[in-house]
Amino acid sequence: MADSESGGCCRCCFSFIITLGLTSLFMWLSLRADNPKITIKYFYLPALNKTFNNRTTNNTLIIELKLDNGNKDKGIYYDAINLTFSDNPNRSLSHLMGNHTIPAFRQGQNKKAKRIVPVEINRTMATLAAFPNGSAVFRVDMATAVRFRIMFWKTKRHRLMLGASVGVNDHGVGNFSKKKGIRLKSGAPEHGGCCAQMGLLVGLMVLVLL
Ligand SMILES: *[C@@H]1O[C@H](CO)[C@@H](O)[C@H](O)[C@H]1NC(C)=O
Ligand SMILES: *[C@@H]1O[C@H](CO)[C@@H](O)[C@H](O)[C@H]1NC(C)=O
Ligand SMILES: *[C@@H]1O[C@H](CO)[C@@H](O)[C@H](O)[C@H]1NC(C)=O
Ligand SMILES: *[C@@H]1O[C@H](CO)[C@@H](O)[C@H](O)[C@H]1NC(C)=O
Ligand SMILES: *[C@@H]1O[C@H](CO)[C@@H](O)[C@H](O)[C@H]1NC(C)=O
Repeated sequence: MADSESGGCCRCCFSFIITLGLTSLFMWLSLRADNPKITIKYFYLPALNKTFNNRTTNNTLIIELKLDNGNKDKGIYYDAINLTFSDNPNRSLSHLMGNHTIPAFRQGQNKKAKRIVPVEINRTMATLAAFPNGSAVFRVDMATAVRFRIMFWKTKRHRLMLGASVGVNDHGVGNFSKKKGIRLKSGAPEHGGCCAQMGLLVGLMVLVLL
């Protein structure tokens, strides 16, 4: 009698540990989140288009961005996205040529978003940046923060600071393949914040279950 009782307890204990293990594994898998991939698909400065007659009065930069949420089961909340444009790829030598803010938005899992924005720039600065042969190189930087929606809750904000240099030809057009675009990159490690948060959560859950 006593034997079978302790056997039952053991089974119960065993299945509890298995459940805990599986739950932790599941939590770990479902809490991993990848930052969105952001690429410049198009970049055009009419002021540097040598065949454009009105180039000396045009202060616009047109940029097309693709924001790609590759997470299969997590939505992304973007804070306002700050874009800055500078006249030199070397940041220690560059000046702010223009800026633009894309309003905050929400992106579903596995979705791609496209933003085509006209930016008012300092045309003098853009023109001074051009080499004698008409081409030029600029710097694009992006600062924002994202939260991931994981099932029914949102993670804390993760800062995203990305940038790239963009060369343009003597027609003022970004000289990169439109298909691939230019990926905005970060120097900082990407997953530190998320891992710490995940560890904390799993730890908390274990405590609650015990
Ligand atoms: C450059 O200017 C010419 C003349 O206005 C125009 O035909 C051409 O489409 C412009 N280039 C781009 C990339 O818009
Ligand atoms: C950027 O410019 C600074 C100052 O002239 C120079 O020391 C540095 O090497 C340059 N960096 C690059 C990547 O060209
Ligand atoms: C545009 O850039 C030029 C050259 O750097 C500078 O002298 C001028 O003050 C700038 N204009 C504005 C409105 O910032
Ligand atoms: C234009 O000149 C710059 C600087 O001299 C050079 O890096 C670039 O390759 C040239 N572009 C073309 C198309 O010749
Ligand atoms: C973006 O710019 C706004 C206004 O200048 C500022 O309040 C916000 O903190 C900036 N966001 C980031 C991530 O730098």
